[in-house]
Amino acid sequence: MHFANLTLGWMLSLAQSRLGVGPLVHNKLGSDTSSPAPPTATSYTLPPLDYSYEALEPHFDAETMRIHHTKHHQTYVTNLNAALQGNEFSSLDIDELMTRFNDLPADKKTVVRNQGGGHANHSFFWKNLTPNATALADGSPLKTGIEDTFSSFVAFQQAFEKAATSVFGSGWAWLILTDTGELRVVTTANQDSPLMGESVVGAGAAGFPIMGLDVWEHAYYLQYRNVRPDYIKAYWQVVNWEFASERYMEGRGSMVQPEPL
Ligand SMILES: *[C@@H]1O[C@H](CO)[C@@H](O)[C@H](O)[C@H]1NC(C)=O
Ligand SMILES: *[C@@H]1O[C@H](CO)[C@@H](O)[C@H](O)[C@H]1NC(C)=O
Ligand SMILES: [Fe+2]
Repeated sequence: MHFANLTLGWMLSLAQSRLGVGPLVHNKLGSDTSSPAPPTATSYTLPPLDYSYEALEPHFDAETMRIHHTKHHQTYVTNLNAALQGNEFSSLDIDELMTRFNDLPADKKTVVRNQGGGHANHSFFWKNLTPNATALADGSPLKTGIEDTFSSFVAFQQAFEKAATSVFGSGWAWLILTDTGELRVVTTANQDSPLMGESVVGAGAAGFPIMGLDVWEHAYYLQYRNVRPDYIKAYWQVVNWEFASERYMEGRGSMVQPEPL
């Protein structure tokens, strides 16, 4: 198996594939050249959660979840809509918008990086959590991949915790699949996504996210105050490993048989 030709086309085909974040999907640029997307004021919308705000208690408290979703995430959506109103890029679904980051007009880059990144990453984050967490199954491809890469699942957890703890200020910790087929723990600042590519997130931090943790203070301060490590420990109780496994298979599958653009 080899992963030589991984390009933007690969990233884009991943971004276009169903992530399970249905309400985010807008017209796909280039999917039908006979009817190009008009420059309309398409709006991005706040995706509903698959569970109630209380459902992750006692690990993640209801008030934090409610504020995080209805205030913080909503604000990214509102600001993104305001910034892209009437712009042709607003017809792209959110993951495509981020993958096409380098094509954006210069005066839209900062706002899309922050507000679009916030929308994309929070939409992913809600899917990445579940009230019905089960352990990652022994022998599953993701478990095996993690064990092969980090030597054991516990060593992976330690590496992830260390990375999440070390993010200075606001940011995210991720488990990503790189374009060479490697699993790697990385961190990004603010709302940057590994999908934005190395020129934005730095060497070695670009790839397809498998799981990720928001370590902005707004994600934990009410419940855990300044003790971010306790929040990171609690995260293991609510990780949606089924979703992570699906992402891993999706990433691997797309690498073996890249779809044409
Ligand atoms: C969690 O499990 C309960 C009980 O089986 C089920 O009703 C609920 O839909 C599940 N929620 C999610 C988000 O999977
Ligand atoms: C983070 O944002 C990007 C866009 O910036 C999005 O495509 C991605 O799915 C988000 N989250 C993860 C974990 O990928
Ligand atoms: Fe957040």
